[in-house]
Amino acid sequence: MAFTIAVDGPAAAGKGTISRAVAAHFGFAHLDTGLLYRAVGRRTLDGIKAIDAATVLVAEDLLADDLRSPEVAQAASKVAVLPEVRAALVDFQRAFARRSGGAVLDGRDIGTVICPEAEAKLFITASAEVRAQRRFAELVADGVRTDFDRVLSDVWERDARDMGRADAPLRPAEDAVRIDTSQIDIDAAVAQAIDAVNRAHRSD
Ligand code: DC
Repeated sequence: MAFTIAVDGPAAAGKGTISRAVAAHFGFAHLDTGLLYRAVGRRTLDGIKAIDAATVLVAEDLLADDLRSPEVAQAASKVAVLPEVRAALVDFQRAFARRSGGAVLDGRDIGTVICPEAEAKLFITASAEVRAQRRFAELVADGVRTDFDRVLSDVWERDARDMGRADAPLRPAEDAVRIDTSQIDIDAAVAQAIDAVNRAHRSD
């Protein structure tokens, strides 16, 4: 049986953690689609053209250990503006979404462009300040030297680029259930997400 859960939202809203927990709860496979753009962005930092990197991308590229750095995040957001790069990554994501046994995909355009027919759609959001605070705490815990204002301006810059691009901009699908994680902890957010998927399943 194929069952797709589409999870979208801005950087650091909690969609990765929520998606992993939802996938584990339902026994579904999970794809963090941001890693595809990060792997392509990572290659551009070595001087490779984005479209060339996107065309030859293989699953092992998603395992590189420096994909989570702030530099790679900005590079990912820049290559994600290019329609040819987005087009090169569509088939892989759609095939993953329809694999038997169910799939959770998280990203920016899953419910709107990649899987508009997804059985359940979630839009995870939080204020820019809360998201920057969480990202700052993660970076500090990883031993990265940075300051809060820099992380906050990175969040704003990436939000503006992800929401402002012409091709597949970040926005909630009309039928997505919105979960704002600014004031709730991760367990409560996961519970709301599971509840929303169960409701979508029953009305299917
Ligand atoms: O989710 P993330 O922070 O790892 O994503 C990195 C960048 O990739 C993000 O700024 C925009 C882009 N992206 C996208 O355009 N579409 C997706 N489905 C996932 C990520």
